[in-house]
Amino acid sequence: MALREIVTIPNEVLRRKARPVTDFGDDLQILVDDMVETMRQAPGVGLAGPQVGISLRVIVVEFGDEEDEEVPPKLYMVINPEILRTSREMVMGVEGCLSIPGLAGEVDRHESVTVRGQSRRGQPFKLKASGWLARIFQHEVDHLDGVLFTDRAEQVWKLEDIDPEEVVLD
Ligand code: NI
Repeated sequence: MALREIVTIPNEVLRRKARPVTDFGDDLQILVDDMVETMRQAPGVGLAGPQVGISLRVIVVEFGDEEDEEVPPKLYMVINPEILRTSREMVMGVEGCLSIPGLAGEVDRHESVTVRGQSRRGQPFKLKASGWLARIFQHEVDHLDGVLFTDRAEQVWKLEDIDPEEVVLD
C-alpha cells in the first residue's frame, strides 16, 4: 500500500465526471488499498477516486456508529456506487472536504439513502445508510459527478471558525 497525493481545487479532475470501473484487476485493487490508507492518514471519513487524481467511480468510507463510540468504525469500499433511493427527510450538517482545505459549509442532505454498488471484486450489493453515514455517501458520490460541497452549501465558513467535532472531512 502507498499513500497517494490528495488533489485540491482548482484541479480540473475534481470537476470531471468519473468513468465507471470495468476492470476489477490488480490496478483497481492497488487503488482501493491506497485510497484506504490515504483516507486514514489524512485523516478523513471518506475519499473518492478523483480526490487522488483518478477519474474512476470508486469511493471508500470509514465511519463509526454515531450513537456508540464503542463500536469500531466500519470500512466501506464501493465501486460504481449509485444512490438508488433517498429519504424525503432532509437534514442540515457541516461538511468539509480534503480537496478544499480550510473551508466548511452547511449542506442539506437526505437523512437516509440506499446505495447500490459493487465490491472491489465486482460483486453487486446494496446498503442502507442514515445520518452522518448517509451524508458521507452523498458527498462521495457527488465527487464522482464533479460536484463539490461548496456547490451545495448554503453557507461556507473558514474551518478554523468551526468546532472540529462538528465537521466531517471527506
Ligand atoms: Ni470531499
